[in-house]
Amino acid sequence: MKRVTKAVFPVAGMGTRFLPATKASPKEMLPIVDKPLIQYAAEEAIAAGINELIFVTGRNKRSIEDHFDRAYELETELKADGKEDLLHVVQNVLPNTASCVYIRQPEALGLGHAVLCAKQVVGEDPFAVILADDLIRGEPGVLKQMTDLYNSHQCSVIGVQKVAREDTRSYGIVKGRGSGDRTYVVEGIVEKPPPDKAPSTLAVVGRYILSSRIFELLERVTPGAGGEIQLTDGIAALLSHEQVLAYEFLGKRYDCGNKYGYLQATVEYALEHPELKKKFHAYLKTLKL
Ligand code: G1P
Repeated sequence: MKRVTKAVFPVAGMGTRFLPATKASPKEMLPIVDKPLIQYAAEEAIAAGINELIFVTGRNKRSIEDHFDRAYELETELKADGKEDLLHVVQNVLPNTASCVYIRQPEALGLGHAVLCAKQVVGEDPFAVILADDLIRGEPGVLKQMTDLYNSHQCSVIGVQKVAREDTRSYGIVKGRGSGDRTYVVEGIVEKPPPDKAPSTLAVVGRYILSSRIFELLERVTPGAGGEIQLTDGIAALLSHEQVLAYEFLGKRYDCGNKYGYLQATVEYALEHPELKKKFHAYLKTLKL
């Protein structure tokens, strides 16, 4: 039986919705309260048993590498100042058992192309793909829910969520046959269909567990929606070879790829933050909204 121990994080996108904040720094480094989005994603992966984190990066992504690396100068200063609690935070961004690999995506040709860049590192193993701007709070984490499903079915699993029909244009949409327990057998998948063409309202969110066969199929995918090499089109091709399941996860998703979702996440995570929650709650109450 194969287990999922590798996760691919495509982080080469431009983040244009957050300009100018993302002019010189990647959108995945935007913090929700005190942790960057990419760290939430890495923690979710690690909680699911992943120990190899593969980042597909582009321009301006150095800070992601720095974030997951040791920061000797900072550590020395924190130690000298006796700030043991902060030292602990800085030293434990990732557990020692996790390793990071960085691959450069030479051109931003789409999500499918970004995933294809990880082919050599992933090899023959099943692997996860996490889009860090889909921040999902779940207990257990969504990727753990999905690896559990993978372990019992040994096939690709895509995280989905029902959305309003008028929003299908923003997502990959799945045509699925319900097989109980929040799980569907995928019969079709299409990238960003208009509402009247969408086969359902089950939308793909940024969590995937994929069989390595996807790579040979992605190599043959031609530009699709938006002129990009779409991961969705690779998955559509996978359907004629293997079973793919869609899984309606338990948890709440924040679309941190746009300002509105990002603000919702910020407020809700602040209201749960041990140091901030009381004060912030009291502050919100003073706002006469
Ligand atoms: C990507 C995928 C899409 C998926 C979405 C989830 O689109 O191509 O299938 O539904 O992520 O966030 P993007 O949001 O990058 O345009």
